[in-house]
Amino acid sequence: MHDLNKIDEIIQAYADTRTPLIYVLKDVQKEYGLLSDEILTRVAQKINIPLSEIYGVATFYSLFTTTAKGKHIVRCCNNAPCHVKGSKAVLDHIKSYLGLEMGETTPDGTFTLEFTSCLGLCAVAPVMMVDNEVYGNLTPEKAVAILKDYKMKGTSHA
Ligand code: FES
Repeated sequence: MHDLNKIDEIIQAYADTRTPLIYVLKDVQKEYGLLSDEILTRVAQKINIPLSEIYGVATFYSLFTTTAKGKHIVRCCNNAPCHVKGSKAVLDHIKSYLGLEMGETTPDGTFTLEFTSCLGLCAVAPVMMVDNEVYGNLTPEKAVAILKDYKMKGTSHA
């Protein structure tokens, strides 16, 4: 549950202008990190346009996020050079360790699993990125060991 009062302030700041909805949503997302159902409903009420219209805009543009992401974003490369070096086996192992399909987030909010396009590190394929760190020469076991490390760090410092 968010404190939604900031939404009113953002909309108020645009009250006298004919600002396109996309700019309002950009500011709202900047404030809250995502555009959840709760947030979009409040925006719709405040600017008095149908919720379906707001959803249409929020889900059309890839710069908007409508679901919460995990604390750590795991991005796996599955482009051809990584694929040839066994990225599918790495990915399958990660999926089964985390219990996730692509685009999903663990129920405890620790990890979100996504694809990435080529990271330009094909020489050390297969490659994955966790937040801003890149890991190469992965094996299925090595990839899961790295994620276990993140998980442990998360619990001991949280
Ligand atoms: S294809 Fe995976 S890093 Fe280039």
